Amino acid sequence: MSWTPELFDAAHAARPFADFEPVLYTAVARAVGGPVVELGCGTARVLAALLAAGVDADGIERDAAMADAAREKLVAAGFAGERVVTADMLDVRWCRRYRLAILPSNTVGSLETHDELSRLFDHIKRGLQPGGEVALDATQLSFDAADAAFEARVVVSRGDKMLDAVYRQSSRHDASSNGEYITERFEFDDGTVVEAHHRQRSWSQAELEAAFGSRGFRYAVALVDESGKPPSVTSRLLFMRLIQED
Ligand SMILES: C[S@@+](CC[C@H](N)C(=O)[O-])C[C@H]1O[C@@H](n2cnc3c(N)ncnc32)[C@H](O)[C@@H]1O
Repeated sequence: MSWTPELFDAAHAARPFADFEPVLYTAVARAVGGPVVELGCGTARVLAALLAAGVDADGIERDAAMADAAREKLVAAGFAGERVVTADMLDVRWCRRYRLAILPSNTVGSLETHDELSRLFDHIKRGLQPGGEVALDATQLSFDAADAAFEARVVVSRGDKMLDAVYRQSSRHDASSNGEYITERFEFDDGTVVEAHHRQRSWSQAELEAAFGSRGFRYAVALVDESGKPPSVTSRLLFMRLIQED
């Protein structure tokens, strides 16, 4: 199921570390330099933060509703909506060469096959400047997070209305299909309920290394998990910064 922009933003705003990706990727963009392209930019949650920090950045988003919401968010913040292009990151026509490509929030989990993962790095390479970098995070199927559940009160923007709701998220990991199955439930105070289901592929460190390694990338800095330390079997996500080989 595809994402609904209003629900996506409400769900992310309710998380304990809501600004984790905007802060992290803005720091990386400042360190590496622009121009930056965010692949799978969703509603421009991260992209808007990059622009607000003075980073020259564009976004690519395949889902038309998400891309429209992203453009609206940029325009409302005083940036050009044209910075967001509705396209598939696997074959988008590059209009310029980037210093950095970012894929926050397990966007690689939207890819299902090894062929797609290899094509992603192949295509990113064509869009990067020589010595350009890629930064991404990839959710891991860690045992102790297998039945993760989360609940919070949220406010959802719907048209010109703001609606209060209780948001419940639960996720189930299925190692046999390398998948994380996420259920999101919004119980609105007016009695209506909306439930959304998403599946995200979990790519292991070895699978990612095989894909980017075969396409001429290597680690730019040491691989870390969500705690900033080298990954272990309980890591919830991997954070990678990659650089093109000469
Ligand atoms: C998990 S969301 C992350 C959104 C955004 N990066 C953020 O951190 O808020 C993944 C996004 O990638 C988009 N996406 C998935 N596959 C894509 C593809 N092949 N090309 C472009 N966008 C894609 C989805 O529509 C969704 O908006």
